[in-house]
Amino acid sequence: MKDLLRTADLSRADVDLLLDTAADFAKSPFRSTETLANRTVAIYMTKPSTRTRLASETAVAHLGGTPMFLRGDDLQIGRGETIADTARVISGFASALIVRTFKQSDVDELGRWASIPVLNGLTDDDHPTQLLADWVTIREVFGNDIAGRKFTYVGDGNNMAHAWLTMGAILGAHVVAATPSGKWAPDANAVAQAKEIAAKTGGTVEVTNDPEAGAKGASVIYTDVWMSMGDPESERQEKLKVLSPFAVTEQLMALTAKDGIFMHCLPAHRGEEVEASVIDGERSYIWREAFHRRTTIQACLYHLMRGDLQGR
Ligand code: CP
Ligand code: NVA
Repeated sequence: MKDLLRTADLSRADVDLLLDTAADFAKSPFRSTETLANRTVAIYMTKPSTRTRLASETAVAHLGGTPMFLRGDDLQIGRGETIADTARVISGFASALIVRTFKQSDVDELGRWASIPVLNGLTDDDHPTQLLADWVTIREVFGNDIAGRKFTYVGDGNNMAHAWLTMGAILGAHVVAATPSGKWAPDANAVAQAKEIAAKTGGTVEVTNDPEAGAKGASVIYTDVWMSMGDPESERQEKLKVLSPFAVTEQLMALTAKDGIFMHCLPAHRGEEVEASVIDGERSYIWREAFHRRTTIQACLYHLMRGDLQGR
């Protein structure tokens, strides 16, 4: 596998390898400074980012390389240069490309034309590196044996919901997405694909419109913002209203397993998708999760550079 473009591209073995390497990089960040020595990695983002940018630049530096950060309007791509030409030029300078943008098809096209590894740093549909950080964190808390546990995402049926179901399916987990039906339900194709993967790994993928049923007995309650980057502002009021029953409150957390934890990819909006006392409370693992963005992006770059990922 040259690129990591979609969560669903990863095999179980790839995920295990990436999670183990990330755990190693958490302990020894400078273990592999030869990987990118004397090399550059382009980081191209047409959407804002705090964590993914900081994690990517730090990961590149820890592998001995130099990050080159490119904002959307820094490139001629905004003035009509094609994705194909851009990918070929970047490939002549950088050793890898990390990209965050709107359309998944644009990232796929960059991957098709770039001769260097391309890593998806979030699209409207997916967020693979986030899910790797989430699962390093989950394994630190619960260990590798997740049999009998339930992992529930509550909120908007967005890129995070898709990635949550897909990664859980790859790992053979019992994953749930509790989201509204209709406009803010997860994409039907993404759900169907996660179910197809789960059928082979022994996982279970469940979609419900009932946040309480989703939370009941869960080991993890995960949520995300209700207004994602690129969501139309004109829909804000309606969307927040439809999502209000899906807020992660103390009452919802009370339904989880005794050792149930709270997770959030961040940024968070306290008082919208999550109550401040939950996200800032003892059961919240958000900081550990955020700091694993570096270890997991470092693991992705390390294995992509070596060509270790096999794909599904
Ligand atoms: N979780 C995440 O991707 O954060 P940023 O948008 O700040 O990169
Ligand atoms: N769903 C959010 C995730 C941010 C990390 C967004 O796309 O804006």
